[in-house]
Amino acid sequence: MEPRTSELSYLSGFGNHFSSEALPGALPLAQNSPQKAPYGLYAEQLSGTAFTVPRAEMRRTWMYRIKPSASHGQFTRLAQQIAGSAPGPVNPNRLRWSPPEIPAEGKDFLEGLSCLAATAHPEQASGISIYVYAASRSMQRAFFNADGECLIVPESGTLRITTEMGLLEVGPLQIAVIPRGIKFRVELTGSSARGYMCENHGTPLRIPDLGPIGSNGLANPRDFEAPVAAYEDSENETELVQKFCGELWSTQLDHSPFNVVAWHGNHVPYRYDLRHFNTMNTVSYDHPDPSIFTVLTSPGAVPGQANVDFVIFPPRWMVAENTFRPPWFHRNLMNEFMGLIEGEYDAKAGGFLPGGASLHNCMSAHGPDNASTKQAIEAELKPQRYENTMAFMFESGQVLRPTEFALDSPLLQQGYDQCWSGMAKTFDPTGV
Ligand SMILES: [Fe+2]
Repeated sequence: MEPRTSELSYLSGFGNHFSSEALPGALPLAQNSPQKAPYGLYAEQLSGTAFTVPRAEMRRTWMYRIKPSASHGQFTRLAQQIAGSAPGPVNPNRLRWSPPEIPAEGKDFLEGLSCLAATAHPEQASGISIYVYAASRSMQRAFFNADGECLIVPESGTLRITTEMGLLEVGPLQIAVIPRGIKFRVELTGSSARGYMCENHGTPLRIPDLGPIGSNGLANPRDFEAPVAAYEDSENETELVQKFCGELWSTQLDHSPFNVVAWHGNHVPYRYDLRHFNTMNTVSYDHPDPSIFTVLTSPGAVPGQANVDFVIFPPRWMVAENTFRPPWFHRNLMNEFMGLIEGEYDAKAGGFLPGGASLHNCMSAHGPDNASTKQAIEAELKPQRYENTMAFMFESGQVLRPTEFALDSPLLQQGYDQCWSGMAKTFDPTGV
């Protein structure tokens, strides 16, 4: 990992602009596309939003590269596609999956991707698709996603992600976001890696407004890190794969696509360490809705109803008095996909494992299981520190359809409903 990373305060809506150069003077000053760029580089703009969106929404980056991205032949459709790459049939049931096995045969990040749920076909300009990955070898090829930005949440194994803008190293308890269209390659630093990926087809992720919280708190802008410019000056044959309308297509390049010597703009990859999250919660009674734990949000068409929120449940103090402390029983408009990065989640006594997942769609009734409920009602409410835990949620205003792959998978746990069955009737009309 290069030592210097840049702060991405544009995420807070400032419309700011960042830059990095791997050779001194490689970044032209005062002009984006001079007749001759420094060092004989080619200028190229990558736009992640329409040219005419409001300035605060605009994402674009200028790159100064050894060869332009246009230097490629025809893409051909790959025989091997992503498992479950289209949304499946409607299913209102509460669902839970065990973690995927690490493949014994070598599979790279792309081969190890499986789509569990999606709101709609990826060519829609909104919604999300949710994947798990289990990889056992590094990618040799390069990849870009025309269908959306990739929010990568490692659960085990550190990923070394080479991007057009430089290198990001991301391990468990960190996340990476690769904006739409940016080429990247995922290498493993160990023998395997596993985790989750949310593909956001809608408005790019940003940190949420803070409202009455004030100017500090939750994910602070200064903790978002972008790579520094680094380039490969290689003329080796390289395979470039793109995901386009849900399908993988491939072409061969006569050079490395990671050939950007300098860049400036705000359509750039970044990482964030979840341990930097400034967690807030009640100091009196009850507890706020889980939106208080929102790290990143992609606004939806309805004001305040997210296309997707990325929410975490980090280690924290629980001090609420006279309060049922686990997440209460609830039914929501929003659609909740949960994963677990580390430890245990306080609403489930078993079955929800690191690397596993659960899906509770719109208006499906859920909450703590029997064992957690009983324990929470009887617990002595002293201040309590929750350690060794990091669950998260991709929460969307649109229904998440499990894919056929996810419904047919042996990882789908049968009898998930049983964790709420047989709940004791404790009602006593003569008692208070
Ligand atoms: Fe929930």
